Amino acid sequence: MKEKIGIASDHGGFELKEILKEELKKHSEMVDLGTHSQESVDYPQVIGSACQSLLEGKVDRLVVLCGTGIGASIIANRYNGIRAALCHDEFTAEMSRRHNNSNVLVLGGRILGKDLAIRILEKWLNTEFEGGRHEKRILMIEEISKASK
Ligand code: RB5
Repeated sequence: MKEKIGIASDHGGFELKEILKEELKKHSEMVDLGTHSQESVDYPQVIGSACQSLLEGKVDRLVVLCGTGIGASIIANRYNGIRAALCHDEFTAEMSRRHNNSNVLVLGGRILGKDLAIRILEKWLNTEFEGGRHEKRILMIEEISKASK
């Protein structure tokens, strides 16, 4: 069965989101979680709602974008169970999967060119979590995050 990958952005990431949607369709069942135009929206709302969809199991993994990726990254990482990785190159995308088991890829729509963004996305989609010694560190993140509330 094909993996279900959600994708969401604010207006700053909208243009790149539309490009990446086509790439996602080649690999997975793509779910567009908004925004649906260039009109200004608040990234905490649109990205937060996409994160809820991931936590509710409506999608298996998520790609989110804003202008820089910073705001999207900050809000996504507020949710317990979300490990969002802001990636600017293929190496960080690969390591975020292998070591951090990132379940959200964050990209800056005003930072990345189309070709690089596609390469980062492909690397992230096609890299597995290594587990092993990294597993307990992921559990630690969850424990620390729950205890800090
Ligand atoms: C929107 O103008 C911009 O602030 C947003 O896309 C993002 O870059 C925030 O971190």
